[in-house]
Amino acid sequence: MNKPSLYQAEIVGTGIYLPEKVLTNADLEKSLDTSDEWIFTRTGIQERRIAQKDESSSTLGAHAARNALIQAGMTPEELDLIIMCTSTPDVLYPSTACFVQKILAASKAAAYDISAVCSGFVFGLSIAEQYIKCGRYENIMVIGAEVNSRIMDWTDRTTCILFGDGAGAALLKRTERGETVGILSTHIYSDGNYTDTLMVPGGIGREPVNHEAVDSKMYCLKMSGQSTFKMAVKRMTEVSRECLAFNGLSTEDVDLVVPHQANRRIIETIAGKLEVSIDKFFINIHKYGNTSAASIPIALHEARESGKIQPGNLCLLTVLGAGLTWGAAAIRW
Ligand code: ACO
Repeated sequence: MNKPSLYQAEIVGTGIYLPEKVLTNADLEKSLDTSDEWIFTRTGIQERRIAQKDESSSTLGAHAARNALIQAGMTPEELDLIIMCTSTPDVLYPSTACFVQKILAASKAAAYDISAVCSGFVFGLSIAEQYIKCGRYENIMVIGAEVNSRIMDWTDRTTCILFGDGAGAALLKRTERGETVGILSTHIYSDGNYTDTLMVPGGIGREPVNHEAVDSKMYCLKMSGQSTFKMAVKRMTEVSRECLAFNGLSTEDVDLVVPHQANRRIIETIAGKLEVSIDKFFINIHKYGNTSAASIPIALHEARESGKIQPGNLCLLTVLGAGLTWGAAAIRW
C-alpha cells in the first residue's frame, strides 16, 4: 500500500443526471401508513426521484458521464475504461457498462460493471486509481447509477421511503501536477458475515426465477435498518480515520466530507464521533434520498458546483453499503 506510484490520478470532470419525476413524502403518505414528519425526522429525506419507464441505469449513467466529459472538455473516444457501479443493472448480462459505452460511442474503452451496492462508487474510484497509478490507463470514467425504484417493495414503509433513482459520474485522468494532488488514497473493505443485513434475495444463481419468488417479493430489497445504521456509523467513522492517518492528515485538515447519503442521522452521528462540524459535511439527502452507488458522485458534483470545493481543498469521501462493504477516499483538488 505504501509503494510509490508511477503516476497520480485526479478528477477532471463530474456530471450528474436525475430523473425528472419527483416523489415527495406527501405522495407516499397517500399509499403508505407513514407521514412526512416521520420520514423527515428519522431520515432527513423530503423527496426522491423516480425513473420513467424508458429510463434505466445505463441511460441515467450515460447522461451523467456525458456531462462529466463536457465539463472536462473531453470526448468519449478518449476514454480508456468505463467502470459502471450499479446494483440495479439493465439486464443480467451483458454489463450495463457496455450499454453505456454504446450510448456514449466510447469506441476505444473497455467497459465493465462492479457490484458493491452503495459503496460501488468508492470501490470503482479505487480500481480506477490503481489503473492510473500503475500507468495502464490515462482516462477512466467511473459512474454510479441506480434505478432503486425497480427493486422496492412499495408496500414496505421501512425501506421504500429511503431510496431514489439517479446517476453521478467522475472522470479520472492521469495528472502531471504531482503526488500531492488528486486521489491521495482509497481504502475499501468487505465483511461477508453481514450479507443478510441488506439484500435483494432473488437471483438466478441459487434458484431459477419462478412465480413464487416474484410473488413473495424476493426481488425486492430487504434490510435490517437498525443494524445497518449501527454498522454504517462504526465502519464509516473507522475508515475515515484510517484514510486521514494514512496520509498523515487529521480531521482539522479536512475542508469537506462527502458522505454516503443514507440517513441524515447517520451523517450527524459520524460528524459527532469524528469531532468535525456538521457544516463540513455535504448533505443533499433531502432532495434525492439514498441513491446507492450514485449518492457520492451526485453529492460530489453538487458540492463542486455550489463552490464548496475549491482548488487546494481536501475532501474526504466515506461510505457503507450492502455486503457489507465500506470505504473512504481522500482527494486534494
Ligand atoms: N413511517 C412510519 N413509521 C415507520 C416507518 C415509516 N416509513 N418505518 C418504520 N416505522 C415504524 C416502525 O414500524 C417502528 O414502529 P414500532 O415502534 O411500533 O415497532 C418505529 O417506526 C421505529 O422503527 P425503527 O426501525 O426503530 O426506526 P429507526 O429510527 O431505526 O429508523 C431507518 C429506520 C430509517 C430504516 C434507519 O434504521 C436507517 O436509516 N437505517 C440505515 C439504512 C442505511 O444506512 N442504509 C445504507 C445502506 S443502503 C445500501 O447499501 C443499499
